[in-house]
Amino acid sequence: MDALKKQPIRKLRKPAEILKLNPERNPYSTRIFEYADLIWFDGVESARSDLKNIEFLHGPLVVDLGCGSGNFLRQFALRYPEKRFLGFELRFKRLVFAAKKLKKGEINNVRLIRSLAEVATEWIRPGSVELLHVNFPDPWPKKKHRKNRLIQPAFLETLHQLLMSQGRFVFKTDHQEYFQSSLEFLQGDSRFEVSHLCHDLHQSEIENIPTEFELLFKSQGLPVYYVELQKI
Ligand SMILES: C[S@@+](CC[C@H](N)C(=O)[O-])C[C@H]1O[C@@H](n2cnc3c(N)ncnc32)[C@H](O)[C@@H]1O
Repeated sequence: MDALKKQPIRKLRKPAEILKLNPERNPYSTRIFEYADLIWFDGVESARSDLKNIEFLHGPLVVDLGCGSGNFLRQFALRYPEKRFLGFELRFKRLVFAAKKLKKGEINNVRLIRSLAEVATEWIRPGSVELLHVNFPDPWPKKKHRKNRLIQPAFLETLHQLLMSQGRFVFKTDHQEYFQSSLEFLQGDSRFEVSHLCHDLHQSEIENIPTEFELLFKSQGLPVYYVELQKI
């Protein structure tokens, strides 16, 4: 029953509204407009439905939810220039940093979306994702805040809708409790099967592109938990 609950969605102010409220609050909120070819965002009426028609989004797509400043996407896209990559991120500064790196590297197969990952289905067509990564999502460690976690039972609905048949989902985290509690429902859903499960990614043979946060945790000697699911 839990899986049928609607995923709670935090309120996201649109860039234009933020500018109107306080133009000096965050200079990066204006700078995303300099990269309008790479960063798509809420703020324009019906932008999402228009974007669904953009050829880039027809897939197959590799998606990174909460992509930070884009190191992972940049490396992945360089390794697979024939694939199309899409990153979701909330923070303006990280989006600008990511876009800057993509421009500098002349990487043309990545787009970034300034939007909540929870509403990814409003941007992406059903069944068009071949691989979806959630790398080190905010763990919301306090019990009363856990409802804000991205990975929760209702997320499986999003995942099922986005992934194509045989599509894969990868979740990496340093947070043991987040990982263990997520495994309970990730392993229990018969629409997916667990293809890899590992409690210390860096001691394993699993092919891996490290993210910014991952390198930080690695330098502190912390293990990285890893699970990979495949849609049946
Ligand atoms: C801990 S960081 C990890 C960044 C990157 N994935 C990495 O591994 O280096 C989590 C990122 O997710 C973004 N984020 C948090 N909640 C989000 C949401 N609901 N939708 C999209 N991005 C989100 C944050 O702004 C932040 O950049």
